[in-house]
Amino acid sequence: MTALAHPNIALIKYWGDRDSNLHIPLNGSISMNLGGLFTRAQVSLNPNPQRDELRLNGVTANPDDYRRVSAFLDHIRELSGRKVYFTINSHNNFPTSAGIASSASAFAALALAATKVCDLDLTEPELTRLARMGSGSACRSIPAGYVEWIAGYNHATSFARSIAPPEHWDLTDCIALISQEPKSTSSTQGHALASSSPLQAARLQTAEQRLQTCRQAILDRDFNALAQVVELDSNLMHSVMITSTPPLLYWQPPTLAVMHAIQNWRLDGFQVCYTIDAGPNVHVLCPTQQATEIATRLRNIPGVIQVLTARPGGATRIIENE
Ligand code: DP6
Repeated sequence: MTALAHPNIALIKYWGDRDSNLHIPLNGSISMNLGGLFTRAQVSLNPNPQRDELRLNGVTANPDDYRRVSAFLDHIRELSGRKVYFTINSHNNFPTSAGIASSASAFAALALAATKVCDLDLTEPELTRLARMGSGSACRSIPAGYVEWIAGYNHATSFARSIAPPEHWDLTDCIALISQEPKSTSSTQGHALASSSPLQAARLQTAEQRLQTCRQAILDRDFNALAQVVELDSNLMHSVMITSTPPLLYWQPPTLAVMHAIQNWRLDGFQVCYTIDAGPNVHVLCPTQQATEIATRLRNIPGVIQVLTARPGGATRIIENE
């Protein structure tokens, strides 16, 4: 059984957990699936009834990745009521070290393929809850297009749903890769530090307002409203990061160069905005008609290694049913 899932870029960010085991977030978030970029997870039952086998991009997984995935598969064993083990081959078609959250697409694809192998037929909301237990942001890669993760307060109430299908609004994410180094502090470690920042409370207090503005901007296809709230939300998350104990400063000099350039391009009349996850790379959003010009300009900024582009992607789906 093979499933395909896209990574997603958060337009309103998830940063900080209410429950770090189940990945119940402290605030809701909104994202866009990144079409063209994907994880392909091929899953079958392992005839060896002792342990799972996991290969990531053709290589046997390291012990940390193995433990995380096996713990996730325990949830599927529990759901199916069968003590089965899996053989998994998971491949990304984008550089894993590119700082694009590969755990989101990896756990989304694995959740669908492994449940199907067990003949479990989960509804979409159920599948988002399951994927969330692998990696929080993975729940947003299950539904199609523009997606909202309702924060909730426990396993049953925390799930994701589509706000609008991919064809609703043709935006492009031009991803400016600035470093291919693995990041020093993972998102999982970062979530645990969020509450040490005195700014996290203010960020959380106003999150509902930003969710509302972002949802409406998507429904209205209002790029200027979207740009304003997306940059504000990213800047708020990074303000929390740099004021945590210990501080997390993910930006590099070229990150800032891209941020300045985008402000200037807006003054030149381009519809464009940035958002940055837990790393130095910059996701630059614009209407697709402007994407070729924006990507070319990004490639000319010193320190930008490569630019990938992605339009809104579909839902996680089965692509081979052998
Ligand atoms: C900055 O979902 O990667 O990308 O639940 O611990 O796996 P875990 O964290 P993860 O956190 C994503 C953080 C972010 C913002 C976002 O995608 O909303």
